[in-house]
Amino acid sequence: MEKRQQIYEGKAKKVYATDDENFVIVSYKDDATALDGLKKGTIAGKGAINNRMTNFLMRLLEKNGVPTHFVEELNDRETVVKKVSIVPLEVIIRNVSAGSFAKRFGVEEGIVFDSPTIEFSYKNDELHDPLMNSYHAIALKVATREEIEYIKSLAFKVNEVLKEYFLSLGVKLIDFKLEFGKLADGTIVLADEISPDTCRFWDAETNEKLDKDRFRRDMGGVEDAYKEMMHRVFG
Ligand code: TMP
Ligand code: ASP
Repeated sequence: MEKRQQIYEGKAKKVYATDDENFVIVSYKDDATALDGLKKGTIAGKGAINNRMTNFLMRLLEKNGVPTHFVEELNDRETVVKKVSIVPLEVIIRNVSAGSFAKRFGVEEGIVFDSPTIEFSYKNDELHDPLMNSYHAIALKVATREEIEYIKSLAFKVNEVLKEYFLSLGVKLIDFKLEFGKLADGTIVLADEISPDTCRFWDAETNEKLDKDRFRRDMGGVEDAYKEMMHRVFG
């Protein structure tokens, strides 16, 4: 497949057209942002780690019956994926209280839930990704009721597969964010990335943070945390 012109640049990835209109190439950057892009930095090696980890997890999910946009890893940073239009919802699953959940409800981090929670935010940096419930999403024609039900069922399935997988590596999957996309024929598939940028990972023994919270919260040891997650996954 031939790489053509850049068609999009986001905060952490660039997207290129290819000679086939059904496929695009994503290229992962080392750039990191937080607070809707207000806080900027770089995390050395992040692009390659997020690319490789995402692709590994997408394959694992495919094997477990979750349709994804993944096609082929080209190199450390670049991957061919099916071209989708992203459903502008950030789908967040939580197994343990942390982050904005802990803040919003005034509870400590680390409360283990009896069953996972799901929430949506409307993907819009200018509005600071406001929380959006399914009625809001339907009213604004972000998705249909059927699409939302399907997205929810896929998101919980992803959680079951990933929670068990990460626990086998000695890592607790605290929470994570997913994005879904629509193929030209309307089929919904899992898209975007699954990485320490988009998940909270805590060491199962020590609760040490092994994810982007180290960057968001200026904790130091950011690169080492990403490398540690890479080692857990790839040995
Ligand atoms: P939150 O607690 O800040 O709402 O984050 C929940 C999860 O979603 C956490 O694993 C980090 C991830 N996330 C993103 O991937 N992108 C974002 O823009 C935000 C705010 C969170
Ligand atoms: N990616 C988001 C941003 O740049 C925030 C985050 O991951 O915390 O604002």
